[in-house]
Amino acid sequence: MAQKLAFRHLLAIQYRILRRSPFRRTSLCALQAGSPLVRSLLASLTLLTVAVAAPVAAAQKIQISVDVSKPGAKIDRNLFGQFAEHLGHGVYEGIWVGPDSKIPNTRGIRNDVVAALKAIKVPNVRWPGGCFADEYHWRKGIGPQRTVTLNPNWGGVIEPNTFGTTEFMDFLDQIGAEAYLSVNVGSGTPQEASEWLEYLTTAQPTTLAKERDANGHPAPYKVAFLGIGNESWDCGGNMTPDYYLSQLKIYSRFVRNFNPAQQDKQQMLKIAVGPGGGEPRWTEWTEAVMKAYQSHTWSWDMHGLSMHSYTVVKWPPSFASVGFGETEYAQILKSTLEMNDLVEKHSAIMDKYDPEKKVALVVDEWGGWYAPLPGSHPGFLAQQNSLRDAVLAALNLNIFARHADRVRMANIAQMINVLQAMILTDKDKMVLTPTYYAYKMYVPFQDATFAPVSFDAGTYTHGDITLPRVDAIAAKDKAGKLWLAITNVDPNQSAEIELTLAGINAKSAAGETLSAPRVDSVNTFDAPNAVAPKPISAKAQDGKLLLELAPKSVTVVAVKQ
Ligand code: AHR
Repeated sequence: MAQKLAFRHLLAIQYRILRRSPFRRTSLCALQAGSPLVRSLLASLTLLTVAVAAPVAAAQKIQISVDVSKPGAKIDRNLFGQFAEHLGHGVYEGIWVGPDSKIPNTRGIRNDVVAALKAIKVPNVRWPGGCFADEYHWRKGIGPQRTVTLNPNWGGVIEPNTFGTTEFMDFLDQIGAEAYLSVNVGSGTPQEASEWLEYLTTAQPTTLAKERDANGHPAPYKVAFLGIGNESWDCGGNMTPDYYLSQLKIYSRFVRNFNPAQQDKQQMLKIAVGPGGGEPRWTEWTEAVMKAYQSHTWSWDMHGLSMHSYTVVKWPPSFASVGFGETEYAQILKSTLEMNDLVEKHSAIMDKYDPEKKVALVVDEWGGWYAPLPGSHPGFLAQQNSLRDAVLAALNLNIFARHADRVRMANIAQMINVLQAMILTDKDKMVLTPTYYAYKMYVPFQDATFAPVSFDAGTYTHGDITLPRVDAIAAKDKAGKLWLAITNVDPNQSAEIELTLAGINAKSAAGETLSAPRVDSVNTFDAPNAVAPKPISAKAQDGKLLLELAPKSVTVVAVKQ
């Protein structure tokens, strides 16, 4: 709670340290008109200014306390989920190059991408869309003969359907992730979706199971999550809440998972379409769906409510993904922090109808959405990924972790070559983005138990924007090790952190920190390591751990006892 309060006050202005500075008071008193000291003081004014600035910066220590005696919710590993839509080069070229490609691959799936994704322990991948899902017909993407169609949502390009169900499940198997299938409610039928699940999951020798066998997979697949529609209030069919609810009930009832291993504990979780913002239109949607859930009968159920929220500032997306300055850095981070209010607004509605928090809030599309890269196809949503995006990712992951009792799944958009990607590819080349590294550093938080953190964040101000200067979360992993993630939002000043760990005899802390010279520093195919984590360690002093965090940095450390 203390930590929550601290977060609520993040925007409170704190000038205390500056006001108290003796250097500042001295300099103002000395500058009286006619004073014989004035000339000599003026001569040394530049030096004095430097002297004033340095002690002020050094004085801005941030005290962070962690109380491990009051564990919070489990930070579900599914908060670190990914989203791969048939969009631009997200699937084709990003994942799939085909078995005949010169790019090293396993059954058509790029080996370099698989290795990189394994390292960040991707828990689940949402597929095949997005808007694409509501026009996807699974039968066109199975078997030896694929049907060539179009992708009207994303550039009207050819959709070869060479990456279909078998390839997706193979990809998941290669990276060790679970399936989050988004079924077609917009232009499909309950029967089509139900047959897809029978094809995927039945162990009995039905005609569809035999077809799966003939396509190379005799055993039933596991489908962990089922999304029933996508943005049904917009690209998914512009439905009213009532119309959507009628569809939800039918799909929930008839789209069954037959896998014998998923009839009890590993039950497939059904995720309903939820809000896309904070305006009344969205709160009314959440109200309607959750109210229906409260009085649902045995014949239908839902386990999650999806929420989509991109950091875009205004539509159409116009912020550059590279080649920007501090103003755009501050504007985007201010906008991304609105995720906190959005989560709390919809959680409060969910609490009314589901106080036991049985239904998860699933933020299955989020991330920075910027202007398309110059020269790229505008329908392909190609953008660069900078240090700003790593900071943005950390701030959002922290928000999700703080609300881990309700937010139990999230999927950043999108995994490769699209929007806020982990990975960028160009033919045989691959580069890992700053966002990728943030995800890699956060791996220890997967399924760890939240530990309350209290701190006074201080402020970072640029123009008329004031943001919390730092943000932090802590959690204990299954082995009992305590981890801290601390973000220094301030792009100009390092942050000196004093860590107090109640009930822990901390000897040191060590981990990795991610920063770079500029807010828009990026990794390119020519300079792939411009933004990469470096080792960092804390010193122990007087029962505290001292850490110095670089400006605009994301840091994750483990505490050694
Ligand atoms: O991620 C890109 C698109 O954004 C998705 O297809 C859609 O669901 C959302 O509007």
